Amino acid sequence: MSDDPRHPFLQGLSKHRGTPPTVIVIFGASGDLTARKLIPAIFNLAYDNLLPADFFLVGYGRKDIPHEEFRGIALGAIKEFSRRELNAEVWNRVAANTTYIAGGYDEPEAFRRLAAHIESLEKTLGRDVQTLFYISTPPSVFAPILRNLGACGLAARHLGNSLHTKVIIEKPFGKDLESAVALNGVIREVLEEHQVYRIDHYLGKETVQDLLVQRFSNSIFEPLWNRNYIDHVQITVSEEVGVGTRGGYYEQSGALRDMIQNHTMQLVALTAMEPPVSLDAEAVRNEKVKVLKAIQPLDLAPGGDVVRAQYASGMIGGKGARGYLDEDGIAAQSGTETYAAIRLSINNWRWQGVPFYLRSGKRMARRVTEIAVQFKRPPGTLFAEGGRFDLAPNTLSFQIQPDEGLSLILNGKVPGLETRTQPVKMNFRYSATYGSNTPEAYERLVLDAMIGDGTLFIRGDEAETSWKLYTPVLKAWAAAGREGMDSYPAGSWGPPGAESLMAKTGHVWRQP
Ligand SMILES: NC(=O)c1ccc[n+]([C@@H]2O[C@H](COP(=O)([O-])OP(=O)(O)OC[C@H]3O[C@@H](n4cnc5c(N)ncnc54)[C@H](OP(=O)(O)O)[C@@H]3O)[C@@H](O)[C@H]2O)c1
Repeated sequence: MSDDPRHPFLQGLSKHRGTPPTVIVIFGASGDLTARKLIPAIFNLAYDNLLPADFFLVGYGRKDIPHEEFRGIALGAIKEFSRRELNAEVWNRVAANTTYIAGGYDEPEAFRRLAAHIESLEKTLGRDVQTLFYISTPPSVFAPILRNLGACGLAARHLGNSLHTKVIIEKPFGKDLESAVALNGVIREVLEEHQVYRIDHYLGKETVQDLLVQRFSNSIFEPLWNRNYIDHVQITVSEEVGVGTRGGYYEQSGALRDMIQNHTMQLVALTAMEPPVSLDAEAVRNEKVKVLKAIQPLDLAPGGDVVRAQYASGMIGGKGARGYLDEDGIAAQSGTETYAAIRLSINNWRWQGVPFYLRSGKRMARRVTEIAVQFKRPPGTLFAEGGRFDLAPNTLSFQIQPDEGLSLILNGKVPGLETRTQPVKMNFRYSATYGSNTPEAYERLVLDAMIGDGTLFIRGDEAETSWKLYTPVLKAWAAAGREGMDSYPAGSWGPPGAESLMAKTGHVWRQP
């Protein structure tokens, strides 16, 4: 009998994908993301035997933290945030090779100390290792870190062989086209593109990867995946939470930067791209960039392609919720949108005339991320009732979170002597089939970067193409201040302007 404790469907799958000996250095090691996601991801990879036998973790930050204290912090993070309970044997293995280096992000001397530390690990081990730097700091120090990696020689370590340095860069990647181009410029000064892993953790989610599998491994979808059969596509990324204590940060961001420009556009690209010739990183990313480039500039006039709004007070889960302008840290006359809805036109052979509607907001009725592909209504009047033809359109929806899965709405006959139709829903739920303990996005992404697989990361030109589309919107909104800002009650599905955006083409938003 197998001793694999995983779900029967997962047994027999490879546990090891040839990860070379690795040092992961986390910049911003005392931060929130490190504690909530990165340390638990490393622990779970160790638990699954997916880390190489020679694995070292180095925390880096400005605070002076002794090695032992850092191990204690990491242990606390696993206890609090890991999807799996702490396993002492697994953690002790990782902890034995966990160290901490204190230093500033713009301090060349500290980077030389870091380089010497990595060399000493290599010397003790008696063989070369690859270094994966994870930049998990606020974006203000991305550039100094990159420049110092270049200046002290860490960026070019083992360049030319498979142990070359790799760098994961957290989001946000710029705040507009100009800053994204500038950051790509700094990257190019010190790294080759294949060494760079720009993260959007949405791409590490099982359901996002499943989108590609569903599209390209089932012969029933691809023949229908075009303007002949698809009426429109709706992508919703909604949150129940408001800005909470992060008002100051959110004022500099807003829904367009925080959600639409990055996560939502990744979902557009994967839904709309042509089949790549292989699952190789460049083949996939070439197709994503191609389709992003086919999106037409947005009409920014009132009644055009863009809607923005702020939440007003309302009710969430039976409790009263404040409006955005009454939240802590928000300017009285703030022009920051907490909701954005966009209509995209993709001008290529496959999609011309098929609108892609995107919406994202805080303080909405429910937390959900889904892609809904709505097919055209079936022809004929065989099932018209009272002369009225209103069969529901078939809709295929991918639930990215929560309750990951896939649903298809079909029309069926209501049992009885009359011939009456009713939409019925076929559901596939990940948790029902595979159990609920699926890997977190960061586990997959850290592992992929260690292996050198960039498929689920964003290429420089991809980030710039998306910013090119949205930077004119950001500029127009900044210039307009609060003029044209719509409003929606907390706990609702969005503002009236978003309904009008849809109504113009005879569509309505789903209530996912
Ligand atoms: N938290 C999340 O859930 C999340 C999700 C997605 C993406 N991200 C992105 O991941 C990155 C890290 O997020 P985080 O929430 O962990 O950030 P954070 O806690 O605010 O900062 C991470 C670490 O960076 C250092 N740091 C903070 N402010 C700094 C400053 N002004 N100048 C220099 N160093 C500073 C601090 O370490 P030391 O004082 O020890 O140097 C801090 O512990 C950010 O780019 C964020 O946008 C975060």
